[in-house]
Amino acid sequence: MTTKKILVLAGDYLGLEVMVQARRVLDWLHQTGAAAFEFEEGLVGGASYDAHGTPLTDDTIKLAHAADAVLFGSIGGPKWDGVDYDLRPENGLLRLRKAMGLFANLRPAIVFDALAGASSLKSELVKGLDIMIVRELIGGVYFGEPRGIEELPGGGQRGYNTQAYATDEILRIAHVAFDLARKRDGRVCSVDKANVMESSVVWRDVTTALREESYTDVELSHMFVDNCAMQLVRTPKQFDVILTDNLFGDILSDLAAMLTGSLGMLPSASFGAVGDDGRQPSLYEPVHGSAPDIAGKNLGNPLAQILSTSMMLRYSFDMGKEADLVENAVEGVLSKHIRTGDIAADGVATVGTMQMGDAVLEEMITLAG
Ligand code: IPM
Ligand code: MG
Repeated sequence: MTTKKILVLAGDYLGLEVMVQARRVLDWLHQTGAAAFEFEEGLVGGASYDAHGTPLTDDTIKLAHAADAVLFGSIGGPKWDGVDYDLRPENGLLRLRKAMGLFANLRPAIVFDALAGASSLKSELVKGLDIMIVRELIGGVYFGEPRGIEELPGGGQRGYNTQAYATDEILRIAHVAFDLARKRDGRVCSVDKANVMESSVVWRDVTTALREESYTDVELSHMFVDNCAMQLVRTPKQFDVILTDNLFGDILSDLAAMLTGSLGMLPSASFGAVGDDGRQPSLYEPVHGSAPDIAGKNLGNPLAQILSTSMMLRYSFDMGKEADLVENAVEGVLSKHIRTGDIAADGVATVGTMQMGDAVLEEMITLAG
């Protein structure tokens, strides 16, 4: 068994708390001999800013390159509101994504049967929901130049950003979406704003041409992002794979998370291109943020972090059996009505972050026999 090197970047606030629970799952797999892990820990976001004056150090980037996978928590909080814009915690995550070349972000929105009632939509609309959002992660308006804030001669300011996508950037993310669709229901819905933005016109042309050229077995449709937001709350089950850009993906994935009952349930995986050495950079993180309002009180839901961990086992370490075990344990716990506050069921007392971790571990032990 080869030892997998994991860089753990818990980040700030809730990230620290939910990472403890994810680590317990990994430690258990390690102790039982199901896997061999070696952990490295680093600071990122506000924690890194406090210690080093920057939300991401070169050393952390080096550790990320050396690791087989990065397990990320969440970053940010009001404590750093006054910090210079490019030193803000969020920038640590954006720079890490860029440094690792993580262009593909996979955000699965799956509704566990036991949680259909926790969604803000009627349960028949979301029961059995299984959508995969494929978000471009290192391009678009998040990184486009020029950007900045300028002082206007007559007083006041002008803030500006650039939304741009080139053929190559679109092609590589579209390949990911089409390949995934082939393993699923064979349908890609590409989401853009081609009625208003030139970058979306190119996006639409490139995805259409790629489909004609290499993926005629996959169905491709196009949708404007405003319509997509509406369709996601109207009939979410119409979607299989949603392919979209960085900004739209950010927004739509929070929306999709809520369909599943809570932002506290949604994991994500990010990948770069396979290198000459055969290694593929990867990072796993929950979709939710650092939730300073509930952090440190044993209130947060650790399941998105735990499910991000199972994505890591499946996609980076080829440990499908262990990933199934973690996911089945989560499902088991939910079906026993064990709930944190965000997914509370009527008339059932909720548990804390730690107790949810206990419950998942116990269930794993039971399932593993
Ligand atoms: C996400 C987050 C990040 C993003 C923030 C924290 C920079 O919202 O991963 O969805 O906008 O990508
Ligand atoms: Mg977001």
